[in-house]
Amino acid sequence: MADSRETLTINAFVVGYPIKHSRSPIIHSYWLKKFGITGNYEAVEVVSDNFANFIATVKEGKPGTAVGGNVTIPHKEAAYRLADRPDALAEELGAANTIWMEEGKLHATNTDGYGFVSNLDERHPGWDKTDRAVVFGAGGASRAVIQSLRDRGIAEIHVLNRTLERARELADRFGPRVFSHPQAALQEVMQGAGLFVNTTSLGMDGAEAPHLDFSQLAARAVVTDIVYVPLRTPILQMAEEQGITTVDGLGMLLHQAKPGFMRWFGKMPEVDETLRALIIGDM
Ligand code: ATR
Repeated sequence: MADSRETLTINAFVVGYPIKHSRSPIIHSYWLKKFGITGNYEAVEVVSDNFANFIATVKEGKPGTAVGGNVTIPHKEAAYRLADRPDALAEELGAANTIWMEEGKLHATNTDGYGFVSNLDERHPGWDKTDRAVVFGAGGASRAVIQSLRDRGIAEIHVLNRTLERARELADRFGPRVFSHPQAALQEVMQGAGLFVNTTSLGMDGAEAPHLDFSQLAARAVVTDIVYVPLRTPILQMAEEQGITTVDGLGMLLHQAKPGFMRWFGKMPEVDETLRALIIGDM
């Protein structure tokens, strides 16, 4: 008789609202197939009022229910609050994007920062040999970026934002190596920086983005964007036109998915060109 464990289906999810544009099911289905794992990864649309109920069902851990999943907008903060065992990364950000059941407890982490640095490591090795990084924008997405740059040992991280107060909050939260500036100081702060990260939606809303002059960046500097639709954002286009190396944000999405897959399905997957092409084909 066949061992029933061999055919047991492992279930995982991405939960958010709205969720229909999520590419995560493509990523995890690709890896499941590649490893020959009998599993499912599905997008689940849950509104904020129902999120606590959804998490309660996951915690019940009944046979056939999911072992964990990804959490996206607008539930990342709630996922952190509802977890029994958030790790230090989730704790510091107050937000989780990856959750899983372990010994009856709901664990939570945040892999956005891991995805961000892994993408740069893959596409532009040596990017971290700089003392100065500039992060443009101070919304939810920039937090994980700042945390990961600080944890990577970048000496100075300069955060600029249209609303200065939000940049200040992040500098206070992340400590002495993180500095805040108004958006007007952008050109000045770029001097000698080896990394420029765009986390704003500048130029994405139909309005033309103001011209950014990247000529004061350090030699071999890299400009990256956390947005990946379109692949070449207005800011990346501007940098390319000025001869600066760029790294698009798609790899951040792909790499942030790896630790979750490892937790739920027990194998550490890799990001390859076939997977990149699959996502690009879906855009
Ligand atoms: P997310 O969680 O995706 O980062 P968010 O919290 O709405 O989204 O943050 C969006 C970021 O883009 C913010 O830094 C925002 O600046 P404000 O804090 O001043 O709102 C920035 N942003 C959006 N549109 C912008 C624009 N036209 N010019 C400059 N910054 C802009």
